[in-house]
Amino acid sequence: MTKIAASILSADFANLQHDCTRLLDEGVDLLHIDVMDGHFVPNISYGAPVLKCLHEALPDVYYDVHLMISDPARYAADFAKAGANLLTFHLEAVRDTAEEVIAAIRATGCQVGISIRPGTPVEAAFPYLGVVDLILVMSVEPGFGGQKFLPATPQRLAALDAERKRRGCTTLLEVDGGINTETGPLCVQAGADWLVAGNSLFRAQDPAAVVRQLHGQA
Ligand code: DX5
Ligand code: ZN
Repeated sequence: MTKIAASILSADFANLQHDCTRLLDEGVDLLHIDVMDGHFVPNISYGAPVLKCLHEALPDVYYDVHLMISDPARYAADFAKAGANLLTFHLEAVRDTAEEVIAAIRATGCQVGISIRPGTPVEAAFPYLGVVDLILVMSVEPGFGGQKFLPATPQRLAALDAERKRRGCTTLLEVDGGINTETGPLCVQAGADWLVAGNSLFRAQDPAAVVRQLHGQA
Protein backbone atom coordinates (compact mmCIF):
# COMPACT_ATOMS: atom_id res chain seq x y z
CA MET A 1 0.00 0.00 0.00
CA THR A 2 1.03 3.60 -0.57
CA LYS A 3 2.89 5.11 2.37
CA ILE A 4 2.15 8.58 3.64
CA ALA A 5 4.94 10.72 5.04
CA ALA A 6 3.88 13.75 7.07
CA SER A 7 6.17 16.73 6.42
CA ILE A 8 6.72 18.32 9.84
CA LEU A 9 7.57 21.63 8.18
CA SER A 10 3.84 22.40 8.44
CA ALA A 11 3.60 21.48 12.15
CA ASP A 12 3.29 23.88 15.07
CA PHE A 13 6.87 23.66 16.36
CA ALA A 14 5.78 24.64 19.86
CA ASN A 15 3.69 21.47 19.89
CA LEU A 16 5.73 19.24 17.61
CA GLN A 17 5.34 15.94 19.46
CA HIS A 18 1.61 16.49 19.92
CA ASP A 19 1.06 17.39 16.25
CA CYS A 20 3.05 14.35 15.05
CA THR A 21 1.36 11.93 17.45
CA ARG A 22 -2.05 13.13 16.30
CA LEU A 23 -1.24 12.33 12.65
CA LEU A 24 0.48 9.03 13.46
CA ASP A 25 -2.64 8.01 15.38
CA GLU A 26 -4.68 8.80 12.27
CA GLY A 27 -2.59 6.38 10.20
CA VAL A 28 0.35 8.38 8.80
CA ASP A 29 3.18 5.90 8.12
CA LEU A 30 6.32 8.01 8.54
CA LEU A 31 7.63 11.44 9.40
CA HIS A 32 9.35 13.53 6.72
CA ILE A 33 12.00 15.90 8.06
CA ASP A 34 12.83 18.81 5.73
CA VAL A 35 16.31 20.15 6.36
CA MET A 36 17.14 23.49 4.65
CA ASP A 37 20.43 25.32 4.91
CA GLY A 38 19.65 28.74 3.40
CA HIS A 39 22.20 27.96 0.69
CA PHE A 40 20.96 25.09 -1.48
CA VAL A 41 17.46 26.52 -0.95
CA PRO A 42 16.53 30.09 0.05
CA ASN A 43 15.13 29.10 3.46
CA ILE A 44 16.40 27.75 6.78
CA SER A 45 14.44 25.14 8.73
CA TYR A 46 16.02 22.99 11.45
CA GLY A 47 18.83 20.52 11.91
CA ALA A 48 19.79 17.30 13.67
CA PRO A 49 19.00 18.48 17.25
CA VAL A 50 15.30 18.76 16.39
CA LEU A 51 15.31 15.25 14.91
CA LYS A 52 17.14 13.95 17.99
CA CYS A 53 14.44 15.31 20.33
CA LEU A 54 11.62 14.00 18.17
CA HIS A 55 13.29 10.59 17.89
CA GLU A 56 13.71 10.42 21.66
CA ALA A 57 10.04 11.30 22.14
CA LEU A 58 8.77 8.99 19.36
CA PRO A 59 11.42 6.27 18.96
CA ASP A 60 9.36 3.79 16.94
CA VAL A 61 8.68 6.10 14.00
CA TYR A 62 10.48 5.81 10.64
CA TYR A 63 12.31 9.09 9.95
CA ASP A 64 12.54 10.08 6.29
CA VAL A 65 15.06 12.94 6.20
CA HIS A 66 15.07 15.22 3.13
CA LEU A 67 18.38 17.09 3.02
CA MET A 68 18.03 20.31 1.01
CA ILE A 69 21.60 21.28 1.81
CA SER A 70 24.76 21.97 -0.17
CA ASP A 71 27.05 19.51 1.62
CA PRO A 72 25.04 16.41 2.59
CA ALA A 73 28.06 14.13 3.15
CA ARG A 74 29.36 16.45 5.86
CA TYR A 75 26.21 16.13 7.96
CA ALA A 76 25.13 12.54 7.21
CA ALA A 77 26.59 11.07 10.41
CA ASP A 78 24.93 13.76 12.58
CA PHE A 79 21.50 12.97 11.16
CA ALA A 80 22.08 9.22 11.41
CA LYS A 81 23.05 9.58 15.07
CA ALA A 82 19.98 11.74 15.68
CA GLY A 83 17.68 8.94 14.50
CA ALA A 84 17.32 9.15 10.70
CA ASN A 85 16.32 5.95 8.90
CA LEU A 86 16.61 7.32 5.37
CA LEU A 87 18.80 10.21 4.20
CA THR A 88 17.81 11.74 0.88
CA PHE A 89 20.09 14.31 -0.76
CA HIS A 90 19.71 16.40 -3.91
CA LEU A 91 21.54 15.38 -7.03
CA GLU A 92 21.85 19.08 -8.00
CA ALA A 93 23.73 19.85 -4.78
CA VAL A 94 26.58 17.44 -5.44
CA ARG A 95 26.69 16.97 -9.24
CA ASP A 96 29.99 15.10 -9.72
CA THR A 97 30.28 13.51 -6.27
CA ALA A 98 26.96 11.68 -5.91
CA GLU A 99 28.71 8.29 -5.62
CA GLU A 100 30.78 9.56 -2.69
CA VAL A 101 27.72 10.96 -0.95
CA ILE A 102 25.91 7.64 -1.41
CA ALA A 103 28.90 5.84 0.13
CA ALA A 104 29.06 8.33 3.03
CA ILE A 105 25.38 7.77 3.81
CA ARG A 106 25.67 3.98 3.47
CA ALA A 107 28.56 4.10 5.96
CA THR A 108 26.19 5.54 8.58
CA GLY A 109 23.84 2.55 8.22
CA CYS A 110 20.96 4.68 6.89
CA GLN A 111 19.02 3.96 3.73
CA VAL A 112 19.86 6.29 0.83
CA GLY A 113 17.64 8.44 -1.34
CA ILE A 114 18.34 10.95 -4.09
CA SER A 115 16.05 13.80 -5.01
CA ILE A 116 15.58 15.84 -8.17
CA ARG A 117 14.19 19.37 -8.49
CA PRO A 118 11.35 19.98 -10.98
CA GLY A 119 13.77 21.40 -13.58
CA THR A 120 16.15 18.44 -13.56
CA PRO A 121 15.45 15.91 -16.33
CA VAL A 122 14.24 12.61 -14.83
CA GLU A 123 16.85 10.80 -16.92
CA ALA A 124 19.47 12.25 -14.55
CA ALA A 125 18.12 9.90 -11.88
CA PHE A 126 18.06 6.77 -14.09
CA PRO A 127 21.63 5.68 -13.26
CA TYR A 128 20.66 5.50 -9.57
CA LEU A 129 17.73 3.12 -10.03
CA GLY A 130 18.82 -0.10 -8.37
CA VAL A 131 21.67 1.75 -6.62
CA VAL A 132 19.78 3.84 -4.04
CA ASP A 133 16.74 2.81 -1.99
CA LEU A 134 14.50 5.67 -3.08
CA ILE A 135 14.18 8.46 -5.63
CA LEU A 136 12.32 11.57 -4.48
CA VAL A 137 10.68 13.56 -7.27
CA MET A 138 9.97 17.15 -6.23
CA SER A 139 6.55 18.39 -7.34
CA VAL A 140 7.37 21.97 -6.27
CA GLU A 141 10.61 23.95 -6.12
CA PRO A 142 12.17 22.87 -2.82
CA GLY A 143 12.34 25.45 -0.04
CA PHE A 144 8.84 26.09 1.23
CA GLY A 145 5.72 24.22 2.27
CA GLY A 146 2.27 25.09 0.96
CA GLN A 147 3.13 25.51 -2.74
CA LYS A 148 1.07 24.45 -5.73
CA PHE A 149 1.67 21.01 -7.26
CA LEU A 150 3.42 21.17 -10.64
CA PRO A 151 1.28 19.34 -13.24
CA ALA A 152 4.25 17.80 -15.11
CA THR A 153 4.99 15.62 -12.07
CA PRO A 154 2.89 12.51 -12.86
CA GLN A 155 4.56 12.07 -16.25
CA ARG A 156 7.97 12.40 -14.58
CA LEU A 157 7.04 9.70 -12.07
CA ALA A 158 5.68 7.50 -14.85
CA ALA A 159 8.98 7.76 -16.75
CA LEU A 160 10.91 6.64 -13.67
CA ASP A 161 8.39 3.88 -12.97
CA ALA A 162 8.69 2.56 -16.55
CA GLU A 163 12.48 2.60 -16.33
CA ARG A 164 12.55 0.80 -12.98
CA LYS A 165 10.21 -1.87 -14.36
CA ARG A 166 12.40 -2.22 -17.42
CA ARG A 167 15.42 -2.78 -15.17
CA GLY A 168 13.46 -4.97 -12.74
CA CYS A 169 14.62 -3.03 -9.68
CA THR A 170 12.86 -2.22 -6.43
CA THR A 171 13.97 1.39 -5.83
CA LEU A 172 11.01 3.25 -4.31
CA LEU A 173 9.52 6.43 -5.78
CA GLU A 174 8.51 9.28 -3.49
CA VAL A 175 6.85 12.58 -4.42
CA ASP A 176 6.91 15.79 -2.39
CA GLY A 177 5.17 19.16 -2.66
CA GLY A 178 1.54 20.20 -3.01
CA ILE A 179 0.22 16.69 -2.37
CA ASN A 180 -3.45 16.57 -1.40
CA THR A 181 -6.47 14.36 -2.04
CA GLU A 182 -6.57 15.45 -5.71
CA THR A 183 -2.89 15.37 -6.64
CA GLY A 184 -1.89 12.37 -4.46
CA PRO A 185 -3.96 9.79 -6.39
CA LEU A 186 -2.56 11.07 -9.72
CA CYS A 187 0.95 10.40 -8.41
CA VAL A 188 0.05 6.95 -7.11
CA GLN A 189 -1.42 6.10 -10.50
CA ALA A 190 1.85 7.23 -12.11
CA GLY A 191 3.91 4.94 -9.85
CA ALA A 192 4.62 6.81 -6.59
CA ASP A 193 5.06 4.52 -3.57
CA TRP A 194 5.38 7.22 -0.92
CA LEU A 195 3.49 10.53 -0.76
CA VAL A 196 4.84 13.43 1.29
CA ALA A 197 2.18 15.80 2.59
CA GLY A 198 2.57 18.85 4.80
CA ASN A 199 -0.20 21.41 4.66
CA SER A 200 -2.91 19.02 3.48
CA LEU A 201 -2.40 16.92 6.63
CA PHE A 202 -1.38 19.36 9.35
CA ARG A 203 -3.99 21.96 8.36
CA ALA A 204 -6.81 19.48 7.65
CA GLN A 205 -10.14 19.68 9.51
CA ASP A 206 -10.32 15.89 9.32
CA PRO A 207 -6.82 14.47 8.85
CA ALA A 208 -8.09 10.88 9.17
CA ALA A 209 -10.18 11.38 6.02
CA VAL A 210 -7.15 12.77 4.15
CA VAL A 211 -5.03 9.80 5.26
CA ARG A 212 -7.73 7.36 4.12
CA GLN A 213 -8.01 9.03 0.72
CA LEU A 214 -4.25 9.15 0.22
CA HIS A 215 -4.06 5.49 1.19
CA GLY A 216 -6.65 4.87 -1.53
CA GLN A 217 -9.20 3.58 0.95
CA ALA A 218 -11.88 6.27 0.79
C1 DX5 B 1 9.44 21.58 0.27
C2 DX5 B 1 9.50 20.40 1.20
C3 DX5 B 1 8.21 19.67 1.32
C4 DX5 B 1 7.07 20.49 1.90
C5 DX5 B 1 5.77 19.81 1.63
O1 DX5 B 1 10.72 22.06 0.07
O2 DX5 B 1 10.47 19.48 0.75
O3 DX5 B 1 8.37 18.47 2.07
O4 DX5 B 1 7.21 20.71 3.27
O5 DX5 B 1 4.74 20.63 2.08
P1 DX5 B 1 3.35 20.74 1.31
O6 DX5 B 1 2.74 19.37 1.32
O7 DX5 B 1 2.58 21.71 2.14
O8 DX5 B 1 3.62 21.23 -0.07
ZN1 ZN C 1 10.51 17.43 1.66
